[in-house]
Amino acid sequence: MCGIIGYFGDKDPKNVILDGLKKLEYRGYDSAGVCILDDGKFSRFRAEGKLSNLEEKVKDKQFNGHIGIGHTRWATHGVPSERNAHPHKVSGVSIVHNGIIENYQSIKKELLANGAKIESETDSELIAHLLSIALEDTKDLETAVEQVLPKLKGAFSIVALWEEEPNKMVAFKDGPPLVLGVGEKEILVASDITAIVSHTKDVVFLEDKEVVIVNGTDYKILDPRGNEIHKKIEHIDWNPEAAEKQGYDTYMLKEIFEQPRAVAQALEPHIDIENQVIQLQGALGPDVSAEEINKRLAQVERIFVVACGTSYYAGMVAEYMIEKMTRLPVEIEFASEFRYREPVLPPKSLVIVISQSGETADTLASLRMAKEQGAEIMSICNVRSSSIDREADYHLYMRAEAEIGVASTKALTCTLAVINVLSATLAKIKGRLARDEEVALIQKLQQIPAEMEKVLVHDKFFSEAANSLKRYKGFLYIGRGLSFPVALEGALKLKELAYLHAEGYAAGEMKHGPIALIDQDMAIVVIAPKDDVYEKTISNLEEVRARGGQVIAIGSGEDEVLKDLSLHYLSIPEGDWRTNPILALVPLQLMSYHVASSLGLDVDQPRNLAKSVTVE
Ligand code: G6P
Repeated sequence: MCGIIGYFGDKDPKNVILDGLKKLEYRGYDSAGVCILDDGKFSRFRAEGKLSNLEEKVKDKQFNGHIGIGHTRWATHGVPSERNAHPHKVSGVSIVHNGIIENYQSIKKELLANGAKIESETDSELIAHLLSIALEDTKDLETAVEQVLPKLKGAFSIVALWEEEPNKMVAFKDGPPLVLGVGEKEILVASDITAIVSHTKDVVFLEDKEVVIVNGTDYKILDPRGNEIHKKIEHIDWNPEAAEKQGYDTYMLKEIFEQPRAVAQALEPHIDIENQVIQLQGALGPDVSAEEINKRLAQVERIFVVACGTSYYAGMVAEYMIEKMTRLPVEIEFASEFRYREPVLPPKSLVIVISQSGETADTLASLRMAKEQGAEIMSICNVRSSSIDREADYHLYMRAEAEIGVASTKALTCTLAVINVLSATLAKIKGRLARDEEVALIQKLQQIPAEMEKVLVHDKFFSEAANSLKRYKGFLYIGRGLSFPVALEGALKLKELAYLHAEGYAAGEMKHGPIALIDQDMAIVVIAPKDDVYEKTISNLEEVRARGGQVIAIGSGEDEVLKDLSLHYLSIPEGDWRTNPILALVPLQLMSYHVASSLGLDVDQPRNLAKSVTVE
């Protein structure tokens, strides 16, 4: 995690770096720091806590140099404090680091034996020591990096500066992402393109063990053997405004309200409106037709879905939907389990990896493990050219644009839209989706954006109800079928944003334990749209009511039965079982958002979390 940025150019580096850190703050916010050239020396400022503390510290400071680096931290080694904040500086060397140095203990021992003075508790400072020692001989930052890189084990992306070569910046990575932005009179390196895109849309994605040497506005890239290579500059089509709040108080609220447009965007490439056909357009690259994609997918006999966090719940929806529609066996797994439990992947297995960031360490490792075993990989990512996207065989995109709020919202609903078209495509391949059913599904899918607009009006209800909701001692979210993953996600959202105890449960499992928790102080959030398990869920709700639980219900249309059983009833439009989860998630997002806001919490940056988890 952590966000890193480096800048050389004709703009004020302080502004560019602080602005970039603002975009990267979702990656961690335990401390922040900058190191910027000023009168030929690198001047360092660091502050514990959010970026705003650092901004306050440097607000009156002017730097006259044109190069600098910045960092926003998610603590791994060492508590969040100014002492442990980056950049780390040893003699004239300054570095920022994202990731973990796994062999830091042996490096530290050696450094201490040689008399090094180590100031922080971090693994990162050790990199600056190693570079500083190497520079005593090499007198050249590029060569020093080449000597130090093989000594580092773990996952890292690093940008380094040295006072003796003040126009030079060397960046390298092994694991976490690093992107180079190539502007007209400026060069940037950063953990992701959100920090770059307002300066240039021309970027180069670095691969593991590549090194980029920025010298003024020139740069060269070396491959892992030290040979210069010329990599393709990619032009990205991200709208810089997607990374701004655009008048909303928070990124999260903006992202919740963007969902109708985002979902429409996610569906767009895969629905041929004129011919009323669902197809996976572009999944094998721009030159491969939908027919060829289908031919290859027809070989699949078994599907595994692997993901973490909110993306895992999207994966559960995929499991239920694909299996029901195609009769292919599908299994969902936490990436952190899948990668280590030595799963058997039979021939003709397809592994679908879901990741908003495309960088989650466990998901990426699972992908690599599955690939090694011969499985085909399909990625569903939001960030194009992310590691997971690049390493997959089939590529599907959430098309949600930048999601900055740490708690995922629009990326999930967009993923569910993509899962709908994927399930329908596989069902067609298996001869299990009749033509009239396909046309009916297209109509349903196309109604989602308008239906989401309707569901967004619950914003008002939750902004008013939040004060009374936050008083409950706990929240139990229940649902059956596709509403079960929705319940799990609803509980996760409340936990991560409002720090309240919330549990998601399969409604039918309640009687095997959680029912003991129910009393007047327990809120029960039930997701019960009209589907084939609706009646069963209603029976479970009766059991809750009989024990005094306070019910907040989400149901289809004007459901009088559900209304009678509930303290609060929130309606979603009558939908198809496949599109219900997309609509039902919206009130749950709004509920968590408003409860957390009414508790005075920072919804965009909940404590201890980070958006892109590039450590195990
Ligand atoms: C973190 C984020 C979650 C996200 C999960 C998986 O825990 O806080 O919001 O769902 O990582 O991230 P991915 O980028 O792989 O979807």
